[in-house]
Amino acid sequence: MKEQILALLAQHDGYISGQALAQALGVSRQAVWKGVRALKDSGCEIESTPNKGYRLTALPAYLNEIAIRRHLHTAVLGKSLVVLDAVGSTNDYLKRMGADGCENGTVVTTREQVAGKGRLGRSWASKRDENLAFSILLRPQLAPKDATPITPLAGLAICKTLRKTTGLDCKIKWPNDVIIGSKKLVGILTEMSAEFDAVEYIVTGIGVNVDQTEFPEEIAHKATSVLLETGTRFDKNRLLAALLDGLEKAFTRYNLSLPPDALEEYTSLCATIGRTVSFQKGTRTLSGTAVEINADGELRVMLQDGSIRTVNSGEVTVQGIY
Ligand code: BTN
Repeated sequence: MKEQILALLAQHDGYISGQALAQALGVSRQAVWKGVRALKDSGCEIESTPNKGYRLTALPAYLNEIAIRRHLHTAVLGKSLVVLDAVGSTNDYLKRMGADGCENGTVVTTREQVAGKGRLGRSWASKRDENLAFSILLRPQLAPKDATPITPLAGLAICKTLRKTTGLDCKIKWPNDVIIGSKKLVGILTEMSAEFDAVEYIVTGIGVNVDQTEFPEEIAHKATSVLLETGTRFDKNRLLAALLDGLEKAFTRYNLSLPPDALEEYTSLCATIGRTVSFQKGTRTLSGTAVEINADGELRVMLQDGSIRTVNSGEVTVQGIY
């Protein structure tokens, strides 16, 4: 009810009477009054004037579809947009929508995740209204092995958008964390449903630390937020729209692949290149210097004996970062 009243108020520049709202929604004026009060309680500014009715003067700061759409300029990403109040994980929610046939470019976001997922089976903390947690679904006509550039492209687009919108000196920690200095600002988790030779859908989930000032103890030394780094509270609706714009631009410009100019951009923003890294090969931990990213988005590492190893997934520790 609350969201329906908000949608009607947002469609009108001036006042709309309680009677008109009640009629449009098929509810009593008392129900409208209650809905308006709930909207005010949750941050909407609404003027109520006798004989005139209600007028929306400011949208709420929390994530909402109307505010996101006001700032969104995409053709495909977010055309279908689901904004939830709370959910276990936006990736899991969108995978279910994917299995039910939702359209290419569908986006799911939420004010709160109660079972957010990180890479390698870890959890991802997403307290209410503190961060951005969203997932996008793509249905590219690709073989699974050719879909690997999607995550680095997403990392690149997010890094560039955050640099532009927040002014922060963000970098990419291969394969897909966005960092500031030695602390993590963004995590990306890509999941796929595929036949042997064809992708059915890909869900890329993105978590951006926006307003956190505290983190769980085990990650407190290596996590940061936009608020901690800038001292400013950014509008999450606007930020999400900007990130979706940036993601669509990168996916379209580079056609979901990593041509030389995309690799050049990625490399110029990648904090991993040129550093000493350690990674796991079977039961052994190997170390070497990260030399480049290849067209499949894999990391090439030169070991001490001069041989080159290609790392395509898993955890890579970067000396001086984490
Ligand atoms: C990582 O760095 O470990 C990946 C973190 C990915 C978190 C995002 S938040 C939105 C989406 N839903 C999830 O459950 N996880 C991703």
